[in-house]
Amino acid sequence: MELRCTVSPVEWRQDRVRILDQTRLPWEQSFIEMRDYLAVANAIREMRVRGAPAIGVAGAYGAALGALAIQTEDREAFLGELHKVIYTLAATRPTAVNLTWALRRVGQAVSRGRDVLQMKSLAVEEAQKIQHEEELATERLGRQGADLIPDGATVLTHCNAGALATCGCGTALGAIRTAKLQGKQVRVLATETRPLLQGARLTAWELAQEGIPVTLIADSAAGHFMSRGKVDCVIVGADRVAANGDVANKVGTYSLAVLAAENGVPFYVAAPLSTIDLTLASGDQIPIEERSPEEVTHILGSRTAPEGVSAFNPAFDVTPSRYITAIITPAGIARQPYIVSLRQAIEGRTQVGGGDNA
Ligand code: MRU
Repeated sequence: MELRCTVSPVEWRQDRVRILDQTRLPWEQSFIEMRDYLAVANAIREMRVRGAPAIGVAGAYGAALGALAIQTEDREAFLGELHKVIYTLAATRPTAVNLTWALRRVGQAVSRGRDVLQMKSLAVEEAQKIQHEEELATERLGRQGADLIPDGATVLTHCNAGALATCGCGTALGAIRTAKLQGKQVRVLATETRPLLQGARLTAWELAQEGIPVTLIADSAAGHFMSRGKVDCVIVGADRVAANGDVANKVGTYSLAVLAAENGVPFYVAAPLSTIDLTLASGDQIPIEERSPEEVTHILGSRTAPEGVSAFNPAFDVTPSRYITAIITPAGIARQPYIVSLRQAIEGRTQVGGGDNA
């Protein structure tokens, strides 16, 4: 049986980009159609489309829209304008490397065009190709990850690394869905994921729709469940993986990894190859997006903290690789030493993995 997900966070429709507005979930499924790359940039910044692979694809389509709108026949002038488009889109969210990776691909594809007309169609074609490749990669990743999930397992996940965050059925949730498809009984503990509640609003919504048993917990309850032996493994997504295996993911991931190590629970990260950044030696070099303090002082637009109180809001944190049991990629399961196994995965060598740090 094949794994199929009906949710599609980003689509290209006749020279428009259509996104499912994730800020409106789970209350309503509403879509936004955009013809202007600046609208796409705003949608990414405002997290109407979110999740590392999905913003990569949305960014690529944004660049394609930008390319189509450039009014010149001159090849060099066209490339100069496209550079501005790509720069604007890349600046929207700095942590997920998928965005800059996808934009670079569109830029490189366009530069192979003979004339402006051809360059415009190359931009659209490359963005579509990225989406298709990401779909296939997510499927392969799901199969790799499912092998790590025992029958009867309770898997804890954080944020949303599901169909809404990718093209396909998700990374962490893709592994869970595939395990379910293979006939395994799997239960999910989903952290609510403050401040923007991706776990409560998105992961719980996605899984409940498919009848996968999901129980929502407060972020701060994770240690309680792990210490009572109620969690068989943790699987999370990633926004960027450095060459040494350090992982940036939704803030709170680091705390979960430390708790997992303390309680002897395997901690897995699921990431497509577009999320692996071998140019960064370690997680210290990963830029961490800081979002508005209002996301912390308010919940869903209602103030919960006293007027005038200050707040900091890093959207991501970095989990050192020593806490990570394995990194699930479409090319295989990477293990310590990640400096070797991640390069093998990227270079397409089949033998991924070294020792086991579990
Ligand atoms: O701020 P978000 O909602 O875009 O953060 C998303 C995450 O942290 C996901 O875990 C990550 O992008 C992986 S999605 C497959």
